[in-house]
Amino acid sequence: MLIRKPADIPSSEITPESVYLRRRELMKGAVALAGAALLPGGVSAAELKALSYRAAETAEDNPFYTSEAQTPFKDATSYNNFYEFGTAKDDPAQYAAALTTDPWSIEVEGEVGKPGRYHLEDLLKGMDIEERVYRLRCVEAWSMVIPWLGFPLSTLLARFEPTSKAKYVQFETLFRPSEMRGQRSAFSTIDWPYTEGLRMDEAMHPLTLMSVGMYGKVLPNQNGAPIRLVVPWKYGFKSIKSITKIRFTEKQPRSSWQRIAPDEYGFYANVNPEVDHPRWSQRYERRLPSSLFAPQRIKTQMFNGYAEQVASLYKDMNLRRYY
Ligand code: MTE
Repeated sequence: MLIRKPADIPSSEITPESVYLRRRELMKGAVALAGAALLPGGVSAAELKALSYRAAETAEDNPFYTSEAQTPFKDATSYNNFYEFGTAKDDPAQYAAALTTDPWSIEVEGEVGKPGRYHLEDLLKGMDIEERVYRLRCVEAWSMVIPWLGFPLSTLLARFEPTSKAKYVQFETLFRPSEMRGQRSAFSTIDWPYTEGLRMDEAMHPLTLMSVGMYGKVLPNQNGAPIRLVVPWKYGFKSIKSITKIRFTEKQPRSSWQRIAPDEYGFYANVNPEVDHPRWSQRYERRLPSSLFAPQRIKTQMFNGYAEQVASLYKDMNLRRYY
């Protein structure tokens, strides 16, 4: 269950101190494990695993947690959207192994005090990695519940010292057709690289996670290794995978899906059962695993169930217009 905050506390202050304190404690142990068998980004598998077990114990007073049944690992890693590897749901599981995720670097540019190309390893050094169990709801009306391992995006962005002109942040996925067969396809509708963006306050919100792992393991390639975004109150397409560029901008950037079909996919893409997709309803979702005989059809919640935390970000906005 998601722990609710009292209504009078601004959503910007929802992270209880106890969670932060425990997280610190957790990390003291986890960081000490660094050493042998480093995986992409310098995080050891043992480190992630040990951490996830301890994080699970803290779930009770953790607002970044849901006790809803978790999607089995098998389903979360075999039913994916990752167009760089093809458009079928099983393409990423089949073809993403071709991607080299180590070494990995992220280029930072735009309205920022510390631009440059950073090695992932350096960015992850000393970073508090924690477990968060989030619902992720795809615009195609299916959803999953996944235990992610990661850190708040805000911690990372603050390190680059955005200037006062930085109103938005744009992300780009790797462009490497030699390893990403979807980028070689003549039938692709996406103008590569895949890009996404957030308003600065959305990016800095405590719910917004940069993920490097799931289910106590390093991220599988098909889920966006070695580093991806998870924005749980927005449709899944905002949660961009395999990030290699972060650009701070003054103007609202355009995302890949906006370029393809601006009437269907907006910049905000907040999960909203009241606003239908032009071609289908958004009132219900299929919670995976779902089948013809056990469809697991459930009602979609406003902001995917995170309204208490994020609704104030949009309080003066017409959500039909800014979809
Ligand atoms: N990121 C990139 N680079 N390419 C993609 O095709 N698909 C998005 C998002 N991130 C996508 C992406 C969509 S539509 C969804 S629903 C989620 O990834 C799916 O994440 P998952 O496969 O880990 O469940």
